[in-house]
Amino acid sequence: MAYSATLIPGDGIGPEVMDAAVEVVEATGVAFDWDRQEAGMGAYESTGDPLPQATLDSIAETRLAFKGPLTTPVGTGFRSINVRIRQHFDLYANVRPCETLPNTHGPFEGVDLMLYRENTEGLYAGIEYFDERNQIADSINRITRRGSERILRYAFEDAERRGRKRLTLVHKANILKETGGMFLAIGREIAEDHPDIAFDDRIIDNMAMQLVIRPDEYDAIVTTNMFGDILSDLMAGLVGGLGVTGSANIGDDCAVFEAVHGSAPDIAGQGIANPTAVIRSGEMMLRYLGETDAAEAVRKALHDVYSEQANLTRDLGGTASTSDFGARLADRVRAH
Ligand code: NAI
Ligand code: MG
Repeated sequence: MAYSATLIPGDGIGPEVMDAAVEVVEATGVAFDWDRQEAGMGAYESTGDPLPQATLDSIAETRLAFKGPLTTPVGTGFRSINVRIRQHFDLYANVRPCETLPNTHGPFEGVDLMLYRENTEGLYAGIEYFDERNQIADSINRITRRGSERILRYAFEDAERRGRKRLTLVHKANILKETGGMFLAIGREIAEDHPDIAFDDRIIDNMAMQLVIRPDEYDAIVTTNMFGDILSDLMAGLVGGLGVTGSANIGDDCAVFEAVHGSAPDIAGQGIANPTAVIRSGEMMLRYLGETDAAEAVRKALHDVYSEQANLTRDLGGTASTSDFGARLADRVRAH
């Protein structure tokens, strides 16, 4: 049986890296029935809408999407398409693993961290007011018990599934006593149901400093939307940058897998982008579907190819093209 999934190639480097990722995912032998749909700048230019109804309908049907990066048209009044997709399908858990691959020359060896970011509320929800007369701008940082409970439960359960030993909740409850305070209190409540995971907490600014000094002390991190946005880029920097970090947006019965990076217009169309980030997202998609052996085969192929010091893509100092690098990984997966 093939899995039905919506495939969104996306903008800029999207189609290039997604071709490579689909090749690698299919090399595992797991079959997909892809429903190709448009979103982003390309969709805006061809349909007048950066997030066409057909694309939403497709995801509503398949409940599973593999998507390339999208360029949000600037100056058109359209909100971020990614935020709209996350809110529309209530994809409340943003999961971002950060694992060092060999020869990527990041600042540390052997970083292996999980980040769980709340994906629907907080400052990032963009509830804002502007008082023109008095020139006062407000952003509402709404945190709910329901929103906090579901991301915290997801983080504990997923950390357990992955054999993680420790979960650190990141907050600013010393200053944000209501919002941060509630999130932290709920974290402590839920921790009681998970005695096998050591639970602790850190204040966001201290956490940022700790992560760039001793990332190996941490295992898994859970936090609210805006702090997660910032920490995840910091963590990508610990393992070789945006070219290598994948992510998942997960809800109760729907999930969207994508890279952390954007459409990289500066290198689009040149065939030099690193497909590793979307390949890692594909690995997460396989794991989400319960295809653990296939996911492990992708992970192992990445480690093998990177450790051979074989020619890497330009962001990592090599000269390999996107398609050659993808093909090499796919061969390795098939040989597994
Ligand atoms: P970006 O992530 O596209 O690029 C930042 C830098 O990283 C660029 O120098 C780029 O060349 C490099 N880079 C990114 N991915 C790479 C890869 N796979 N291989 C090699 N180098 C890579 O961020 P930027 O420039 O701020 O945003 C460009 C567009 O992407 C904007 O329209 C933005 O809204 C959109 N974007 C979309 C996201 C999504 O769809 N999930 C996420 C982030 C940004
Ligand atoms: Mg971000």
